[in-house]
Amino acid sequence: MPRIAWWQSGIVYQVYPRSFQDSNGDGVGDLIGIRNRLDHLKWLGVDALWISPFFPSPMADFGYDVQDYCGVDPLFGTLDDFDALVAKAHGKGLKVILDFVPNHTSDQHPWLVESRSSRHNPKRDWYIWRDPKPDGSPPNNWVSHFGGSAWQLDEATGQYYYHAFLKEQPDLDWRNPEVQSAMHDTLRFWMNRGVDGFRVDVIWLMIKDRELRDNPINPAWHEGMPDIQRVLPVHTADQPEVHEVIRGLRRVVDEYDDRVLIGEIYLPVDRLVTYYGEDLTGTHLPFNFQLILAQWKADVVASLITEYEAALPPGGWPNWVLGNHDQPRIAARVGAAQARVAAMLLLTLRGTPTIYYGDELGLSSVAIPPEAAQDPWEKNEPGRGFSRDPERTPMQWDETENAGFTTGRPWLPLSDDHTAQNVDRMREDETSILWLYRRLVALRREKASFSIGDFRLLTQSGDVLVFQRLYRDERFIVALNMSSRAATVAIPEMENGGAIRLSTSLSREAEHVSATLVLDADEGLVIEPA
Ligand code: GLC
Repeated sequence: MPRIAWWQSGIVYQVYPRSFQDSNGDGVGDLIGIRNRLDHLKWLGVDALWISPFFPSPMADFGYDVQDYCGVDPLFGTLDDFDALVAKAHGKGLKVILDFVPNHTSDQHPWLVESRSSRHNPKRDWYIWRDPKPDGSPPNNWVSHFGGSAWQLDEATGQYYYHAFLKEQPDLDWRNPEVQSAMHDTLRFWMNRGVDGFRVDVIWLMIKDRELRDNPINPAWHEGMPDIQRVLPVHTADQPEVHEVIRGLRRVVDEYDDRVLIGEIYLPVDRLVTYYGEDLTGTHLPFNFQLILAQWKADVVASLITEYEAALPPGGWPNWVLGNHDQPRIAARVGAAQARVAAMLLLTLRGTPTIYYGDELGLSSVAIPPEAAQDPWEKNEPGRGFSRDPERTPMQWDETENAGFTTGRPWLPLSDDHTAQNVDRMREDETSILWLYRRLVALRREKASFSIGDFRLLTQSGDVLVFQRLYRDERFIVALNMSSRAATVAIPEMENGGAIRLSTSLSREAEHVSATLVLDADEGLVIEPA
């Protein structure tokens, strides 16, 4: 039996550093704040924290525009603060995963400043520069993810540079070996400081068509869709050569023991699984966002699980993500009651779960008045519903003003009910979703069936999804009612009945049930068959 790595049996918790805990009253979270809150992660029982970018940055895209890959932005603290955070996390048995943003730098990064200084600068070809078309327009029809042309004209040198996101985020040319080696060194810099792995930003976009061919027009595009979807990303995403680049990153990560490489990838399953790489030489975990994107219906979820399990390459370790800083919160999508069912699903499926901070409180979308908008995407395509601010609001810790997040003015508003929906209050209520998360995490840690066992889909009938987790003699059945109507389901695999181990309401534990299982509205059960 192969050794099980920590990133296989463990649970990842994502911290968006601006919003977790402020320690100096400027309204923005920071590294000291995270360090002071590590006990929350321990209490929850997770194994690793992934911290979104905290590197020096003009913050055009809140840190996803990096100006220096080997430092800490003063807004978030210092390198010493970072070292202290890692030391404390490690002392508590928590792994630390960083956000590596290799596809693009900030336009204030010294590399870009040099690169744009002249057509003959040695760093010119670190980025993607092209002449205008004869009429002066951009080299091709590529569109930015945040709207508009993906090309920015540099007046002084008369060429355009490519930016998949903001014009303040020029794309590096990863075909250039000098870029590769400079970036590899930044990975080593952080691993030498003890970092346990990386989540790699937009890894599937890192290589673009060498000939810069136009993308085909998307015939299905309509006004309700973001600008980026006007064209199909045939020449800007998922290029075959990207896998060699990823192998290069993996080789660097493998120079160190026991590190993990995770990739951010939004692709259909058959393409997603290619990011494990040939013979598993790619990312350890290509992030699986299907639960975020799918319709919340038992049949849809059943088939996506089956398809995903079937598509995994031999030895490829699965993973599941329920929320992140780019997508509407799960409670906003499916409602408070189903958010509990979703938690049970995430933490009982086969594969590494990633929890987004605040989802353990059932945080929902926070309404952001237009004048308080922060997200650059919202600013570029205003009022169209694309803003990512609602899922980036501050963590809610206690009943004090600003929920203990800051003594200053929070950079984004808190939810209206933060005096009730906060860690302190919910820790006192053992039926809260916070306790449900904690109990699910504890069960997953205690029972190998959940962390490393086999998975078998038993049935999906109507709104109910039933599956089994097994390890050696251990066997558990998970039954999830994904609707707000009570439901009855026959589970032949439970012919002798069973005992409820955990219920989403946290009120039916130890109750005996029969093979004809009755589920309340929005109820999930973990059952130990007799
Ligand atoms: C990733 C990040 C997102 C960012 C984008 C550009 O998708 O998760 O927040 O805006 O990359 O770096």
